[in-house]
Amino acid sequence: MHGEAMALAIAARIGTSLARSISFADFMRACLYEPNLGYYTAGAAKLGEAGDFTTAPEISALFGRTLANAFASISDGGVIELGAGSGALAKSFRSVNKQPRYRILEVSADLRERQQRALAGRDVAWLDTLPQEIAGIVLLNEVLDATACELVRFSDERYEQAFVSGDQNGFHIQWKALTSGALFDAAKHRIPPIEGYTSEINLEAEALTATLASRLSASATAAICFIDYGFPRREFYMPSRRQGTLMCHYRHRAHADPLILPGLQDITSHVDFTAMAEAAVDARAQVISYSSQARFLLSGGLLDQLQAWQFANESERIAIHGSVQKLVSPTEMGELFKVLIVGNTLAAEQLSALAEIDESYRL
Ligand SMILES: C[S@@+](CC[C@H](N)C(=O)[O-])C[C@H]1O[C@@H](n2cnc3c(N)ncnc32)[C@H](O)[C@@H]1O
Repeated sequence: MHGEAMALAIAARIGTSLARSISFADFMRACLYEPNLGYYTAGAAKLGEAGDFTTAPEISALFGRTLANAFASISDGGVIELGAGSGALAKSFRSVNKQPRYRILEVSADLRERQQRALAGRDVAWLDTLPQEIAGIVLLNEVLDATACELVRFSDERYEQAFVSGDQNGFHIQWKALTSGALFDAAKHRIPPIEGYTSEINLEAEALTATLASRLSASATAAICFIDYGFPRREFYMPSRRQGTLMCHYRHRAHADPLILPGLQDITSHVDFTAMAEAAVDARAQVISYSSQARFLLSGGLLDQLQAWQFANESERIAIHGSVQKLVSPTEMGELFKVLIVGNTLAAEQLSALAEIDESYRL
């Protein structure tokens, strides 16, 4: 029922559009965030065992504890978490560091309510909009991958952009020539001119990064930490990745068809971390560090957190060691997930120890 209502809402948008089609990003945004119907805005469980996928804060409380430790020197100015999911990261961060003001900005009303229930009594506040001036640390775990990207391909010696149209058989992709504008400029620089090469360009994620970076305080220590799956640009758009990185998740199964199950499945793309670093630098922030999740967590004290954990019994000990393995193993999340930290000069000084793990030369 819910999927049908979502399909009707998208069909109505397509029907009222001049070209009888909407851009892929508009389609993806509706599927994920249409009020009450989108994947993140309707009431279904999304994260964890009962949902469709799991994230690092859901896997282990040691993830949030390690972040609290890694940013202890700058979090006095406050913590803002964007897109807090079930509230798991806030809960674990708070369990070791109750000092900073912890605020959450969440676009989904349903998730915001769930977070408020999960974090009752933990001194967390919710924001309706981003503050004009940001101090302390901003955390985004798997948020950029949940923003709406465009699909672009190179075909017949030209760049084309995907639009979505619909009929009684469902939704379909229509390719239209892309000849000007920001998306065309990005495509020309990023998408290899190989016949049929198809990939994503996420201008919305770049705009979000630029907005955050442009609001970093000029006088107080301030940084942003993006954690997500993705690559530097040359790896993202490498010639052999001919079908891009778009992925859908439904009940712990991954597939590549975003046009089915509207509102019922997650749609996501990997992050072009070079684009995010460029957007931040253009907005006058500095790149402080870029590394794999494994390097970041290990240098941030993950193993100390593990050692300090009071295991209730042997099966908990085995489970928690297993979750640490998941977070850092190169065959699980350790290498595919990256941590990009950008900030102002004061934050760069405070976090100078991160130079040891920094691989921003790869961006
Ligand atoms: C894949 S979930 C990740 C949830 C959580 N951070 C975690 O790791 O478990 C993406 C989250 O980002 C939120 N979101 C997406 N775009 C956002 C934006 N522009 N501002 C704030 N939250 C956003 C979604 O509603 C959802 O809570």
